[in-house]
Amino acid sequence: MRKPVIAGNWKLYKTIAESVALVHELIPLVVGNQRVDIVVAPVFTALSRVSDAVEGSHIMLASQDCYWEEEGAFTGEVAPKLLKDAGCSYVIIGHSERRQYFGESDLTVNKKIKAAIAAGLRAIVCVGESLAERESDQTFAVIETQLKGGLADISEEAFSHIIIAYEPVWAIGTGKTATDAQAQEVHAFIRQLIARLVGQPIADAVRILYGGSVKPDNVKGLMTQPDIDGALVGGASLKAESFAAIANF
Ligand code: 13P
Repeated sequence: MRKPVIAGNWKLYKTIAESVALVHELIPLVVGNQRVDIVVAPVFTALSRVSDAVEGSHIMLASQDCYWEEEGAFTGEVAPKLLKDAGCSYVIIGHSERRQYFGESDLTVNKKIKAAIAAGLRAIVCVGESLAERESDQTFAVIETQLKGGLADISEEAFSHIIIAYEPVWAIGTGKTATDAQAQEVHAFIRQLIARLVGQPIADAVRILYGGSVKPDNVKGLMTQPDIDGALVGGASLKAESFAAIANF
């Protein structure tokens, strides 16, 4: 009943021309696949051109971040309504790289989610523990803090515009995927937590993606887990063939 989502986070890779070329290659490889929602997240400068390039296909566009104000003297920031204007329907919020390198906090994540949804975007909200946190048995506590802070005062209605992405920091870009069971355990925990926060029907409907070294050869095992509803893919989304193989798992 939850439609899977396969999202590609291109991070800081690809020029405009390379981004457009990638979706041109991707479209024919996923054209018959309507059973998953396919999303790509290029760098800001490529969004508008990639939006033109995916028109008429079922590939949807995401940005990798946003600001929470609509406009004003905020040099360097991009407002959700401008992302919508550029053709985005999704925005990734609170990626661990933003938390690690750019001072993103649960409070700023919360502001960004509210602003994104108010502007008509869907938010892909990222959470995940570091290796030290996992090894000291802090995983559930860390995820709970991130979700309670990030999702504070979000209305029940808004939840239909939210996707959660569980990305253990130790699995990102390392080739070290969480095992199916490790991922499922945290996904089940996240769903139970959302049930506690906003009720079982919303928890049953919310899509929870796994991210961290997802590849064509491990996607199937992850996707057969009951609480894993899709993948947020980094490295393997940069090539049409491997991303299509994941989307067509
Ligand atoms: P990798 O798939 O390269 O590990 O990256 C995961 C990620 O951070 C997606 O947002």
